[in-house]
Amino acid sequence: MAEIIIYDENEWLKTAVRLFVQQAAANIADRGAFSVALAGGSTPASFYAALARPENQKRVDWEKVHLFWGDERHVPQDDPQSNFQMVKKNLLRAVPIPDENVHRVHTEMDVRFAAFSYEEELRRFFPGDWPRFDLVLLGMGEDGHTASLFPHTAALNEESRWFVANLAPEKKTWRLTLTMNAINAARLVIVFVRGASKADRLREVFTATKDPWEMPIQGVEPVDGTMIWLLDHEAGSKLPKEFVS
Ligand code: 6PG
Repeated sequence: MAEIIIYDENEWLKTAVRLFVQQAAANIADRGAFSVALAGGSTPASFYAALARPENQKRVDWEKVHLFWGDERHVPQDDPQSNFQMVKKNLLRAVPIPDENVHRVHTEMDVRFAAFSYEEELRRFFPGDWPRFDLVLLGMGEDGHTASLFPHTAALNEESRWFVANLAPEKKTWRLTLTMNAINAARLVIVFVRGASKADRLREVFTATKDPWEMPIQGVEPVDGTMIWLLDHEAGSKLPKEFVS
């Protein structure tokens, strides 16, 4: 069962940072590393910037942190649309993480080759059948997509690959994304949802019949892990009371 936490702006950021710091310390203590798949889009930018603040970043052993991207736009790494660029601007420039621990998607390649190449990199890092990230950060679009798993798109039917190219229907742009099975192999998934524009869809996600083809985020259910929804009041404003802890 997922935990739902609803906060105001400040508490939201503080909680997101606290969860990251706690998870980093616990996983590094257990296994000597902390592997994270980062979310893209605009919502997490303020979290990355908060994590980069001196009083927060000093609480993380960056030498042991490995950052991956849960999804990426098929654009050059210095493109304003790039999730790598957004994370570099808000986090990477400010924290002492070794370059070799930053695993960006090589979008300079042809999109399908970039997907294969990234999956190879994931397989080098994660032994076993699926990439068991210590933490996967996700957002949710107003259509219920997550990562770059959009409603009615081919990537939703992918059963064996870890990372694939997928066509974003709206703007007909190519994306690259973890598959649902790869996301669900995580130890912990945290979904960041903020803003009134997400409230109606979020209510549907929790109350409508489960149908990941229509609302992909409904397919996120860690097989052997936990899930936390970290919402602000606006995004959570239409959730039935029984869902809110
Ligand atoms: C991306 C994200 C995507 C995002 C949602 C929400 O690359 O855009 O991975 O899944 O999380 O679209 O985006 P906002 O945070 O901008 O609302």
